[in-house]
Formats: sequence, structure tokens, C-alpha cells
Amino acid sequence: METTRLDKFLTQALAITRSQAKELLSKGKVTVDGAVCKKGDTKVTAAQSICAGGTLLTAAAEYVYLMLNKPKGVVSASRDPREETVVDLVAQAYPRRTLFPAGRLDKTSTGFVLITDDGAFAHEILHPKHHVPKDYVVEIDTPLTEEMIQGFADGVTLADGQTLAPAQVQAVSADGLVVRVQLRQGVYHQIKRMFGVYGAGVNELHRDGIGGVLLDEALAPGEYRALTEAEVEKIRTAAQ
Ligand code: URA
Repeated sequence: METTRLDKFLTQALAITRSQAKELLSKGKVTVDGAVCKKGDTKVTAAQSICAGGTLLTAAAEYVYLMLNKPKGVVSASRDPREETVVDLVAQAYPRRTLFPAGRLDKTSTGFVLITDDGAFAHEILHPKHHVPKDYVVEIDTPLTEEMIQGFADGVTLADGQTLAPAQVQAVSADGLVVRVQLRQGVYHQIKRMFGVYGAGVNELHRDGIGGVLLDEALAPGEYRALTEAEVEKIRTAAQ
């Protein structure tokens, strides 16, 4: 999400000069999310509650919904004692929010991770009964076969005997090594295990869609932005 300096925000929101903003700040008249803030260079976002002299200048949104392009090597968790997490990548802009990833990608996978503080929304989209589609581009080490396509469509039975819901797979590259997979289920290491049944390994795995919302191509790995209201509604609708 876009950040701006607090002093700049004040000059714009209150139509005052920079030195007037500085004075408000130094007198302790400005709060950010309820805490007095005296530093003009503090980065703030539209999701924060900013008050001057007790007057609310922005109303914080009830919940935060973010689209992150997860880089490799980052774990899909809120906190981890050793590893960098997806929440670490966004947390600085949301110091008073309890954020968590709504759904996981493996440490080696990349792409769309939805981060929120709305537990009911996360529950809705992750509930196995709701079948929210998730789209992946996958690089495999063995060309896609008709047997895999049919097996995915019928529902793959994993090595542990678990039979999965039907999934779609189609080739993207002429050599059949880059494929698109659509899942409506979230089983641990699901795609790797599905290809594993056919003796195929996964070299790269990138998620580029959740509930029909595509990962914004402008987001470099590690970057994020807020989902629009329409995008949140689209994902919510996909869960119904
Ligand atoms: N399936 C996997 O095997 N890994 C992921 O990260 C997502 C789906």
C-alpha cells in the first residue's frame, strides 16, 4: 500500500503549510492509530487513523486485505523465530493490525498470498466446502501427459491413499513443461504431490490467481498492494 510522510499528509489534509504541520506535531497534537506521533517523517497509509487536535482526518478501514507477490525463501506464516515471513514483508505499514496469511504457499513457491486481519473472511475463503479456485503456473520436469490431465480431472489419489477433488491442468508451453493448474482445494504440498503420483517433479510454482482475482503484474516479488473493494467482493463471491 502506498505510504506518505505524516507531515506531507497533514499539509494536504488540513491545507496548512509545512511549518504549521511541524508545529502541530511538536505540540503532540497528532495521533496515528491512537498514539501521539511527533515525527513528520513517519510513513503513514490510508488504512491508519490519523487525528489532529482530536479530529479524525481519515477513518481506518475496518479490515485490511492485501495482495502480496511472495518471493522465494519467505514462509507463509505470521511470525517465525528464524525465517522471514509474508507478514514481515507488510507489517511495518500496519503496526496495530494482527495480520495473517489467508492460505499458504510453500517456501519455494512464489506469487499471490492474501494477507488480512479479517478472520471471518479468511475462514470463508479457506473452508474446504467453498471451493475457491486458485490458479498456478507450474514448471515440471517431465512433459504433461494425457494420463495426468485425465487423472487430475478425475481426482488424483495421493500416495497416502487420499483422493483429491478434481483439478484442471493444461499445457502452456509447446514442450508441455510449463502448465497451468487450477485447484479448488488446499492440501499440503498439493501440486507437488499430485505430479509426484505420475513421477514428475515440480521445479517452479507460482500462484497468480485467487477467486478469479489475478495477481497484479506491477507487483515485483516482495511488493504488495491493498485489494480493491471489488476484488475483495469477487473473492467473497467465489466462496459462496
Ligand atoms: N501446491 C504445492 O505443492 N505448493 C504450493 O505452494 C501450492 C500448491
